[in-house]
Amino acid sequence: MVDRVVLIGFMGAGKSTVGAILAARLGRILVDTDRLVEERAGMPIPRLFTEKGEHEFRRVETEVLQTLHARRGIVVATGGGAPIQPANRFFFEGPSATFHLRVGLGAARARALRGGIARPLLQQDDAAVRELYVERLSVYEGLGIPVETEERSPEEIAEEIVRLLAGPTASPTPGGSGG
Ligand code: S3P
Repeated sequence: MVDRVVLIGFMGAGKSTVGAILAARLGRILVDTDRLVEERAGMPIPRLFTEKGEHEFRRVETEVLQTLHARRGIVVATGGGAPIQPANRFFFEGPSATFHLRVGLGAARARALRGGIARPLLQQDDAAVRELYVERLSVYEGLGIPVETEERSPEEIAEEIVRLLAGPTASPTPGGSGG
């Protein structure tokens, strides 16, 4: 079994929800990088964006990934922007199996709204959000094994990842050095 299972994808893809189920299925701990950023910053993410700016959020996010880099046997739900930052590439190139939870923009927005967690980057106008989505997609696709999430329950998605982990395609990751 790989050292680290990492979930990537756009906001609303279901990384935290699927990650919790997956971690339970694998008998591992789920680490949610957004929650660690909030702990480290001492405030919720929307406030961090408002008071200190996205730049500070990204700085703390990179620190969080650095602290997790040596940890083994965890499932990591990452923030949607984490794989995009060049400073974070080290994390996704480590001994991980990385899965891209694929979601269309419409479903992502609907889920993000339903989930009730404020995402500062979704407060922008439609064109800006679409641009962000399109820009990021190719990075997610380059780094992660694709897993479809639409019209499937989080349990079904976690189950597929368990199956993929047991099969030959889970390691190495497309962008990583494997393990
Ligand atoms: C962000 C995604 C959020 C959170 C922050 C920035 C992004 O996490 O890290 O609001 O840049 O896509 P989720 O992907 O868990 O919503």
